[in-house]
Amino acid sequence: MAVGLAALARGLIDPVGLVTARPLFEGLPLPAPSDFVIGGHEIRLGSFRESAEEFARASGVFDPSWLDACRDELAAASARVRTGTVCGAGPAIARLGNRSDLIEGDSAAPVIDRIESDLRQFAEAERLDHVVVLNVASTEPPSAVPPVAETWDDLSRALAADQPLALPASSLYAIAAVRAGCSHVNFTPSLGATLPALDELAAQTGSVLAGKDGKTGETLMKTVLAPMFAGRNLEVMSWVGHNIFGNRDAVVLDDPANKASKVTTKDRVVSGILGYKPSTIVTIEHVPDMGDWKTAWDHIHFRGFLGCKMSLQFTWQGCDSLLAAPLAIDLARLVDLARQRGESGLQKHLACFFKSPEGVDEHDFFRQSRWLEEYAQKARA
Ligand SMILES: NC(=O)c1ccc[n+]([C@@H]2O[C@H](COP(=O)([O-])OP(=O)(O)OC[C@H]3O[C@@H](n4cnc5c(N)ncnc54)[C@H](O)[C@@H]3O)[C@@H](O)[C@H]2O)c1
Repeated sequence: MAVGLAALARGLIDPVGLVTARPLFEGLPLPAPSDFVIGGHEIRLGSFRESAEEFARASGVFDPSWLDACRDELAAASARVRTGTVCGAGPAIARLGNRSDLIEGDSAAPVIDRIESDLRQFAEAERLDHVVVLNVASTEPPSAVPPVAETWDDLSRALAADQPLALPASSLYAIAAVRAGCSHVNFTPSLGATLPALDELAAQTGSVLAGKDGKTGETLMKTVLAPMFAGRNLEVMSWVGHNIFGNRDAVVLDDPANKASKVTTKDRVVSGILGYKPSTIVTIEHVPDMGDWKTAWDHIHFRGFLGCKMSLQFTWQGCDSLLAAPLAIDLARLVDLARQRGESGLQKHLACFFKSPEGVDEHDFFRQSRWLEEYAQKARA
């Protein structure tokens, strides 16, 4: 994302892959690539340049000469990254954290205070109109919404009393973001801002919310193909999807607890579209030599007229980060547009970007895309 924004701003690349570069969005006051200032929190040592070099070297995913051309932007962005927290993120993520100054705390309140103060300082130092906090951290194990997070009244009281709270790191970041009046996009399946208390708070602070879990590859295909089976009244009996890839996301998802979060968001879309539950299998395996390349092989067994059994198979070979990065940029631009329009809270028209769209039950990619198109037309009018 950092390389892409810098390369776009310098005119080194065309915007292929960006949904917001479609003619539909022409004339809307979307921020330009050069308007963005990247900062963030990290738990590992290293810089954007080092990570990008790792991608270029291990996966051959983009022209390494762009890294030299964008050297200054990458260095400036890395200098704005602060140390984050692994509180409540589970052991697989804690193992990644090799910075010595990780934000720690026995309770949630001081951790949230630190993150909020970092966000406020970032906005002030860079004189930003709007901060969009984008959760692109490793996937956490599943967590339920604790009863105390049902209302902002209860949650704020528990924080003020420094009560111990069972919240994962993604939610600590989200609370800090919304409290600081930032918008929040959850590109991961982690709990994040999925707390009723934060829906309430966002209405007060004007934060725009969107999530969760970016729909970039195999699940995108599922939500494109399942409407076809439904529309032709073909009965899907089973849908099996095997995924193999080799990047750091795959390392974390190799832990069964973390994998459970991803399998849940990948698995529910087909039955959501068909209206019944075929037998499904979703596997996600770490194959280190594949680097950032992800192969998904899906086998769909379906029944047609006179009970005839047929099948469809597809193989998707995508470069994980380069599918995700433009969508993350799109989301930041669209969330900013919503903010300019005075909107706050969950944005239904962004459902097409997510495997598990918050606040809506619709998984059909075409219906979701129509909502985005209608929104763009309305915004233009
Ligand atoms: N195609 C895609 O890449 C795609 C699609 C959908 C969802 N996602 C989700 O996006 C997230 C990022 O994926 P990725 O491939 O970029 O993974 P990655 O491992 O390359 O990057 C995640 C980064 O987050 C950091 N991190 C982990 N926990 C943190 C914390 N608590 N605070 C601060 N930093 C933390 C890690 O050190 C790492 O640098 C994952 O949750 C993934 O499931 C990715």
